[in-house]
Amino acid sequence: MLDPVRVRTCAGLSGRVVEIGFGSGRNVPFYPAEVTSVSAVEPADNGWRMAARRVAASPIPVERAGLDGQSLPFEDDSFDSALSTWTLCTIPDVMAALAEVRRVLVPGGVFHFVEHGLAPDASVRKWQHRCNPLQRTLFGGCNLNRDIGALIDEAGFEMRTLDRFYEKPTPKTLGALSLGVAVSH
Ligand SMILES: C[S@@+](CC[C@H](N)C(=O)[O-])C[C@H]1O[C@@H](n2cnc3c(N)ncnc32)[C@H](O)[C@@H]1O
Repeated sequence: MLDPVRVRTCAGLSGRVVEIGFGSGRNVPFYPAEVTSVSAVEPADNGWRMAARRVAASPIPVERAGLDGQSLPFEDDSFDSALSTWTLCTIPDVMAALAEVRRVLVPGGVFHFVEHGLAPDASVRKWQHRCNPLQRTLFGGCNLNRDIGALIDEAGFEMRTLDRFYEKPTPKTLGALSLGVAVSH
């Protein structure tokens, strides 16, 4: 169901890529041929185990290279592109993670993302704020109401494209997506 969104998000990635919140590798089939390697950052051993078949089938080398997006074990300017899908909602210190992504990207490097977060409509936002404590409790710290575009701006990226839309048939509180590309300078 979400594959077309993943295709859009991965389009244009190239060179050395760092993916934060790699999960079970659901983006692996959609890495473009221009990607030369992927360093996966994922704390959950289970996710990495579930990714095994996708990783093995990938013509692009993928290695688990880190455990925490808030503290990346890479030199400055190590990557040409970065990727995050449905992850910025959960990382506790999201600003630390965005600062780390900027640090490890080369100047002019691109950050591709799709994330659920704060909805464009006030009526939906009201419910997102109300439901957020329960969401966090039930879903491992996942937040409904982070303003993804604003956080990426605040982290100092230059937003190149940002598309905000509701992913159907997901309820709007959870399906308000921000999909885009931001540049690190
Ligand atoms: C909703 S899942 C999304 C997984 C995958 N990106 C996808 O699109 O299917 C969120 C992921 O973020 C990971 N995560 C949680 N805290 C993290 C952190 N501090 N650094 C990196 N990843 C984290 C979780 O383990 C989980 O795999």
